[in-house]
Amino acid sequence: MPKLMILGAGGHGKVVAEIAELMGRWDEIVFLDDNQKLSEVNGYKVIGTLNDYMAYKDRYQYAFVAIGNNKSRVELIDNMIRKGLVVPTLIHPFTAISANCKIQEGTVVMAGAVINTNTIIGKGCIVNTCSSIDHDCVFEDGVHISPGVHIGGTTNIGKATWVCVGASVANNVAIGKNAVVAAGAVVTKNIPDNVMVAGVPAVIKKQFGDVNHGS
Ligand SMILES: CC(C)(COP(=O)(O)OP(=O)(O)OC[C@H]1O[C@@H](n2cnc3c(N)ncnc32)[C@H](O)[C@@H]1OP(=O)(O)O)[C@@H](O)C(=O)NCCC(=O)NCCS
Repeated sequence: MPKLMILGAGGHGKVVAEIAELMGRWDEIVFLDDNQKLSEVNGYKVIGTLNDYMAYKDRYQYAFVAIGNNKSRVELIDNMIRKGLVVPTLIHPFTAISANCKIQEGTVVMAGAVINTNTIIGKGCIVNTCSSIDHDCVFEDGVHISPGVHIGGTTNIGKATWVCVGASVANNVAIGKNAVVAAGAVVTKNIPDNVMVAGVPAVIKKQFGDVNHGS
Protein backbone atom coordinates (compact mmCIF):
# COMPACT_ATOMS: atom_id res chain seq x y z
CA MET A 1 0.00 0.00 0.00
CA PRO A 2 1.24 3.53 -0.68
CA LYS A 3 2.37 5.95 1.99
CA LEU A 4 1.54 9.63 2.36
CA MET A 5 3.40 12.56 3.88
CA ILE A 6 1.47 15.71 4.76
CA LEU A 7 3.40 18.99 4.76
CA GLY A 8 2.05 21.05 7.65
CA ALA A 9 0.84 19.65 10.99
CA GLY A 10 -1.22 22.66 12.11
CA GLY A 11 -5.01 22.81 12.39
CA HIS A 12 -5.49 22.51 8.64
CA GLY A 13 -3.00 19.62 8.45
CA LYS A 14 -4.83 17.72 11.16
CA VAL A 15 -8.14 17.99 9.24
CA VAL A 16 -6.37 16.90 6.05
CA ALA A 17 -4.86 13.85 7.82
CA GLU A 18 -8.29 12.73 9.01
CA ILE A 19 -9.69 13.02 5.48
CA ALA A 20 -6.78 10.99 4.08
CA GLU A 21 -7.36 8.38 6.79
CA LEU A 22 -11.07 8.13 5.91
CA MET A 23 -10.19 7.61 2.24
CA GLY A 24 -8.31 4.44 3.25
CA ARG A 25 -5.78 4.60 0.41
CA TRP A 26 -2.58 4.91 2.44
CA ASP A 27 -1.21 2.43 4.94
CA GLU A 28 1.00 5.03 6.59
CA ILE A 29 0.49 8.78 7.04
CA VAL A 30 3.16 11.09 8.50
CA PHE A 31 3.66 14.84 8.85
CA LEU A 32 6.50 17.19 7.97
CA ASP A 33 6.46 20.47 9.89
CA ASP A 34 8.90 23.29 10.65
CA ASN A 35 8.04 23.18 14.36
CA GLN A 36 10.87 20.93 15.45
CA LYS A 37 9.33 20.47 18.90
CA LEU A 38 6.61 18.29 17.38
CA SER A 39 7.29 14.56 17.28
CA GLU A 40 3.72 13.32 16.94
CA VAL A 41 0.32 14.92 16.18
CA ASN A 42 -2.92 13.00 16.71
CA GLY A 43 -0.97 9.74 16.51
CA TYR A 44 0.86 10.62 13.27
CA LYS A 45 4.66 10.91 13.45
CA VAL A 46 6.31 14.23 12.52
CA ILE A 47 9.39 12.97 10.69
CA GLY A 48 11.09 16.18 9.51
CA THR A 49 10.69 19.76 8.31
CA LEU A 50 8.89 21.00 5.18
CA ASN A 51 12.13 21.12 3.19
CA ASP A 52 12.90 17.47 3.94
CA TYR A 53 10.33 15.99 1.56
CA MET A 54 12.85 14.81 -1.04
CA ALA A 55 14.80 12.88 1.62
CA TYR A 56 11.68 10.76 2.22
CA LYS A 57 10.60 10.33 -1.40
CA ASP A 58 11.59 6.66 -1.67
CA ARG A 59 9.40 5.64 1.28
CA TYR A 60 6.55 8.16 0.88
CA GLN A 61 5.65 8.49 -2.80
CA TYR A 62 2.54 10.59 -2.08
CA ALA A 63 2.75 14.12 -0.65
CA PHE A 64 0.04 16.64 0.20
CA VAL A 65 0.61 20.29 1.12
CA ALA A 66 -1.51 21.43 4.09
CA ILE A 67 -0.28 24.97 4.61
CA GLY A 68 -2.68 27.91 4.72
CA ASN A 69 -0.74 30.36 2.56
CA ASN A 70 -2.37 30.09 -0.85
CA LYS A 71 0.53 31.14 -3.04
CA SER A 72 3.18 29.14 -1.15
CA ARG A 73 0.98 26.06 -1.18
CA VAL A 74 0.76 26.07 -4.98
CA GLU A 75 4.51 26.75 -5.39
CA LEU A 76 5.33 23.79 -3.15
CA ILE A 77 2.91 21.52 -5.03
CA ASP A 78 4.46 22.51 -8.38
CA ASN A 79 7.95 21.78 -7.03
CA MET A 80 6.92 18.39 -5.72
CA ILE A 81 5.26 17.37 -8.98
CA ARG A 82 8.38 18.48 -10.90
CA LYS A 83 10.47 16.27 -8.62
CA GLY A 84 8.34 13.18 -9.26
CA LEU A 85 6.15 13.00 -6.15
CA VAL A 86 2.50 12.09 -6.54
CA VAL A 87 0.23 14.82 -5.18
CA PRO A 88 -3.25 13.39 -4.55
CA THR A 89 -6.65 15.07 -4.42
CA LEU A 90 -8.28 14.51 -1.03
CA ILE A 91 -12.06 14.25 -0.83
CA HIS A 92 -13.94 13.69 2.44
CA PRO A 93 -16.42 10.80 2.00
CA PHE A 94 -19.34 13.02 3.09
CA THR A 95 -19.34 15.39 0.14
CA ALA A 96 -21.58 15.65 -2.93
CA ILE A 97 -19.54 16.24 -6.07
CA SER A 98 -20.91 15.96 -9.59
CA ALA A 99 -19.18 13.37 -11.77
CA ASN A 100 -18.86 16.14 -14.39
CA CYS A 101 -16.52 18.22 -12.25
CA LYS A 102 -12.77 18.32 -12.60
CA ILE A 103 -10.69 18.71 -9.46
CA GLN A 104 -6.92 18.97 -9.81
CA GLU A 105 -4.13 17.59 -7.64
CA GLY A 106 -3.32 19.00 -4.23
CA THR A 107 -6.89 20.16 -3.63
CA VAL A 108 -8.83 19.09 -0.53
CA VAL A 109 -12.63 18.99 -0.35
CA MET A 110 -13.82 18.86 3.25
CA ALA A 111 -16.88 17.38 4.97
CA GLY A 112 -20.27 18.61 3.87
CA ALA A 113 -19.07 20.40 0.74
CA VAL A 114 -21.21 20.34 -2.41
CA ILE A 115 -19.78 20.92 -5.90
CA ASN A 116 -22.27 20.99 -8.74
CA THR A 117 -21.95 20.02 -12.36
CA ASN A 118 -19.24 21.15 -14.79
CA THR A 119 -17.26 23.07 -12.20
CA ILE A 120 -13.47 23.05 -12.53
CA ILE A 121 -11.27 23.41 -9.45
CA GLY A 122 -7.54 24.06 -9.92
CA LYS A 123 -4.46 22.77 -8.13
CA GLY A 124 -3.92 23.27 -4.41
CA CYS A 125 -7.37 24.65 -3.63
CA ILE A 126 -9.18 24.30 -0.29
CA VAL A 127 -12.91 23.69 -0.45
CA ASN A 128 -13.60 23.99 3.24
CA THR A 129 -16.26 22.47 5.50
CA CYS A 130 -19.92 22.83 4.42
CA SER A 131 -19.17 25.17 1.53
CA SER A 132 -21.00 24.96 -1.80
CA ILE A 133 -19.96 25.72 -5.35
CA ASP A 134 -22.67 25.69 -7.97
CA HIS A 135 -22.55 24.69 -11.66
CA ASP A 136 -19.99 25.79 -14.25
CA CYS A 137 -17.63 27.62 -11.90
CA VAL A 138 -13.88 27.87 -12.49
CA PHE A 139 -11.41 28.19 -9.61
CA GLU A 140 -7.80 28.87 -10.54
CA ASP A 141 -4.94 27.32 -8.52
CA GLY A 142 -4.65 28.03 -4.80
CA VAL A 143 -8.16 29.35 -4.16
CA HIS A 144 -9.40 28.82 -0.60
CA ILE A 145 -13.09 28.98 0.18
CA SER A 146 -13.55 28.87 3.96
CA PRO A 147 -16.27 27.07 5.95
CA GLY A 148 -19.84 27.93 4.99
CA VAL A 149 -19.01 29.88 1.83
CA HIS A 150 -21.56 29.71 -1.00
CA ILE A 151 -20.62 30.36 -4.61
CA GLY A 152 -23.34 30.79 -7.28
CA GLY A 153 -23.14 29.22 -10.73
CA THR A 154 -20.81 30.31 -13.55
CA THR A 155 -18.56 32.24 -11.19
CA ASN A 156 -14.79 32.43 -11.67
CA ILE A 157 -12.24 32.92 -8.89
CA GLY A 158 -8.64 33.89 -9.65
CA LYS A 159 -5.39 32.37 -8.46
CA ALA A 160 -4.66 32.36 -4.69
CA THR A 161 -7.82 34.24 -3.71
CA TRP A 162 -9.25 33.66 -0.25
CA VAL A 163 -13.00 33.78 0.43
CA CYS A 164 -13.44 33.98 4.20
CA VAL A 165 -15.91 32.16 6.39
CA GLY A 166 -19.62 32.53 5.62
CA ALA A 167 -19.26 34.79 2.57
CA SER A 168 -21.60 34.43 -0.41
CA VAL A 169 -20.82 35.11 -4.04
CA ALA A 170 -23.61 35.64 -6.57
CA ASN A 171 -23.77 33.78 -9.88
CA ASN A 172 -21.98 35.03 -13.03
CA VAL A 173 -19.37 36.94 -11.04
CA ALA A 174 -15.61 37.09 -11.68
CA ILE A 175 -13.31 37.57 -8.70
CA GLY A 176 -9.68 38.40 -9.53
CA LYS A 177 -6.48 36.77 -8.35
CA ASN A 178 -4.84 37.35 -4.97
CA ALA A 179 -8.03 38.90 -3.54
CA VAL A 180 -9.67 38.48 -0.13
CA VAL A 181 -13.42 38.40 0.44
CA ALA A 182 -14.00 39.13 4.15
CA ALA A 183 -16.13 36.97 6.42
CA GLY A 184 -19.87 37.34 5.84
CA ALA A 185 -19.52 39.49 2.72
CA VAL A 186 -21.99 39.24 -0.15
CA VAL A 187 -20.28 39.68 -3.51
CA THR A 188 -22.69 40.84 -6.22
CA LYS A 189 -20.31 42.35 -8.81
CA ASN A 190 -16.94 41.53 -10.36
CA ILE A 191 -13.94 42.06 -8.06
CA PRO A 192 -10.50 43.04 -9.44
CA ASP A 193 -7.12 41.45 -8.57
CA ASN A 194 -5.29 42.29 -5.32
CA VAL A 195 -8.09 43.79 -3.23
CA MET A 196 -9.89 43.00 0.02
CA VAL A 197 -13.66 43.43 -0.11
CA ALA A 198 -16.12 43.33 2.78
CA GLY A 199 -19.74 44.04 3.65
CA VAL A 200 -23.19 43.56 2.15
CA PRO A 201 -22.97 44.26 -0.70
CA ALA A 202 -19.19 43.84 -0.72
CA VAL A 203 -17.10 46.94 -1.43
CA ILE A 204 -13.34 47.38 -1.76
CA LYS A 205 -11.71 48.07 1.61
CA LYS A 206 -8.04 47.56 0.78
CA GLN A 207 -5.66 47.33 -2.16
CA PHE A 208 -2.76 44.87 -1.84
CA GLY A 209 0.64 44.55 -3.43
CA ASP A 210 1.75 41.05 -4.35
CA VAL A 211 1.17 39.58 -0.87
CA ASN A 212 0.37 36.01 0.07
CA HIS A 213 -2.97 35.23 1.64
CA GLY A 214 -3.94 32.39 3.84
CA SER A 215 -5.51 31.56 7.14
C1 LIG B 1 -10.76 39.90 5.86
C2 LIG B 1 -10.02 39.63 7.16
C3 LIG B 1 -9.03 38.49 6.92
C4 LIG B 1 -9.31 40.88 7.68
O1 LIG B 1 -8.50 41.42 6.77
P1 LIG B 1 -7.60 42.69 7.15
O2 LIG B 1 -6.86 43.01 5.91
O3 LIG B 1 -6.80 42.39 8.38
O4 LIG B 1 -8.70 43.78 7.46
P2 LIG B 1 -8.76 44.90 8.58
O5 LIG B 1 -9.08 44.27 9.89
O6 LIG B 1 -7.53 45.76 8.48
O7 LIG B 1 -10.04 45.74 8.14
C5 LIG B 1 -10.03 46.64 7.03
C6 LIG B 1 -11.43 47.20 6.90
O8 LIG B 1 -12.34 46.16 6.54
C7 LIG B 1 -13.38 46.02 7.52
N1 LIG B 1 -13.65 44.59 7.68
C8 LIG B 1 -12.75 43.59 7.91
N2 LIG B 1 -13.39 42.42 7.97
C9 LIG B 1 -14.70 42.68 7.76
C10 LIG B 1 -15.84 41.85 7.71
N3 LIG B 1 -15.75 40.53 7.84
N4 LIG B 1 -17.03 42.43 7.46
C11 LIG B 1 -17.15 43.79 7.33
N5 LIG B 1 -16.08 44.63 7.37
C12 LIG B 1 -14.88 44.06 7.59
C13 LIG B 1 -12.78 46.63 8.80
O9 LIG B 1 -13.82 47.05 9.66
C14 LIG B 1 -12.01 47.78 8.21
O10 LIG B 1 -12.93 48.75 7.81
P3 LIG B 1 -12.61 50.35 7.89
O11 LIG B 1 -11.36 50.53 7.05
O12 LIG B 1 -13.81 50.96 7.28
O13 LIG B 1 -12.39 50.61 9.33
C15 LIG B 1 -10.95 39.29 8.32
O14 LIG B 1 -11.81 40.40 8.60
C16 LIG B 1 -11.83 38.08 8.11
O15 LIG B 1 -12.85 38.12 7.42
N6 LIG B 1 -11.41 36.97 8.75
C17 LIG B 1 -12.07 35.72 8.64
C18 LIG B 1 -11.00 34.65 8.42
C19 LIG B 1 -11.59 33.31 8.07
O16 LIG B 1 -12.52 33.16 7.31
N7 LIG B 1 -11.00 32.29 8.65
C20 LIG B 1 -11.41 30.94 8.43
C21 LIG B 1 -10.23 30.15 7.97
S1 LIG B 1 -10.66 28.48 7.59
